Amino acid sequence: MTKRIFLTTAIPYVNDAPHIGHSLEIVQSDALARFYRLNEIDTYFLWGTDENAIKNVESAQKKGVTTQELVDLNTQKFQSLKTLLNLSYDDFIRTSSDKHKRGAQKFWNLCKKDIYKKKYRGLYCTGCEAFYKEGELENNLCPIHNQKLEVVEEENYFFSLSKYQKQLEKLITTDKLKIFPDFRKKEVLNFIKKGLEDISISRPKERTKGWGVEVPEDPSQIMYVWFDALTNYITALDFEHESNLFKKYWTENPNRYHVVGKDIVKFHSIYWPAMLLSAGLPPPTKIFVHGFINVEGKKMSKTLGNIIDPFKLVEKYGVDAVRYYLLKEIPTVDDGDYSDSRMQEIYDSDLANELGNLVSRVTQLAERISLTYSDQTFEFPKDAERGGFTSYIENYQLNLAIEELWKSVKGLNTKINEDQPWKISGTSLDGLLKTYLKGIRNIAFALSPFLPETSKKIVASTQGRIKKAAPLFPKS
Ligand code: MSP
Repeated sequence: MTKRIFLTTAIPYVNDAPHIGHSLEIVQSDALARFYRLNEIDTYFLWGTDENAIKNVESAQKKGVTTQELVDLNTQKFQSLKTLLNLSYDDFIRTSSDKHKRGAQKFWNLCKKDIYKKKYRGLYCTGCEAFYKEGELENNLCPIHNQKLEVVEEENYFFSLSKYQKQLEKLITTDKLKIFPDFRKKEVLNFIKKGLEDISISRPKERTKGWGVEVPEDPSQIMYVWFDALTNYITALDFEHESNLFKKYWTENPNRYHVVGKDIVKFHSIYWPAMLLSAGLPPPTKIFVHGFINVEGKKMSKTLGNIIDPFKLVEKYGVDAVRYYLLKEIPTVDDGDYSDSRMQEIYDSDLANELGNLVSRVTQLAERISLTYSDQTFEFPKDAERGGFTSYIENYQLNLAIEELWKSVKGLNTKINEDQPWKISGTSLDGLLKTYLKGIRNIAFALSPFLPETSKKIVASTQGRIKKAAPLFPKS
């Protein structure tokens, strides 16, 4: 049986337009999905939007539009990243859709034995859409959004998370649910060991202005946005009808992977697996946790006015230069930095000089002797493989995999400099150029999950009767 992988990405809130942080996550996931497909793994890759948050309601109010209008408008912007960033997701789930809502309600009913009602008072951050304990605050403010919390007192439904403490601990310690990187796994285990408390999973309808998924049989309550949002991973697979898609990629598939940012690890590695266990469904098997992208050393924020717009960036540098920056320049599991000067630097050096020049110099020489190339077999460059190319990707260290690949690019350039093929003629030049072309095409093959458009261009310009390739990364 062919191996199967179901891969998802966190679904962003749509209170605003997408920024480069969202692009980082979806591009990383896209590279993984493309890599799996390249290895002939049957891959289903899902993305979507988290539309039921209270912050969407508040943002719409501020803008003087209805919540539906706001989420429609921003969801469209997220969806247009598909073309902009050349994304290969198979489906896009909107949590305001009836399909999702019905699926989330069915899920709630399956968890009923663990759901009870209780009066609650707590500190709520609308930015995170989560309650905080006093001890978790920094200077009395939300540690993530740096903003004041709201004191909320209400009667809500609760989920018996505490009941799953031991099971979760075992799941994670044994790597049945494997969290990448290892330091995140340790953080999660420490959090669990401190003791899990039950969580509030609904809000009174008035507080959400009626927006969101109604609690089954109690329309006065709306599901807590995280409770409904997490179920998107299965409602998109038609959990509602438990159809073949759901069985194929969830219940009967041993590879259920989520990519998420460091700020939402708790929701994915604790809440979500516990919810699934409660519903009698299998939990995820891998969680890949990435870091944050900052801008010139500072956290991206509206107040600082340093939000990087992916649309403008792609317009200026092209999609693959942006993908390259996100995948190679930002360490996959740690925080990284964006700056225009660094973008320009890697565009000129890694992309135009190293990769671009390699392709143009070899195709130029091949054109000169009217060379024809027909080999259609591909493999990952042997030196990159020896350096750990594949295992880096499997271990969610995409930046290190690309570094290995660039060693092949540089290695081939060095070899050409040493061979000095421009001084050679006849059949030995023919043979030499064919080895370079093979090397370049293998590099293109390994590059395809990361820079799909560039990879395609390289493959197209290195087969048949060869002509000098147009510059892959033109200099402005
Ligand atoms: N809606 C929730 C996720 C629900 S998943 C069932 C949410 N949305 S978000 O819009 O705030 O974030 C979406 C994803 O983008 C998260 O994984 C988050 O970590 C990531 N990022 C948001 N800002 C980021 C950066 N500056 N850098 C990298 N990723 C960032 O959380």
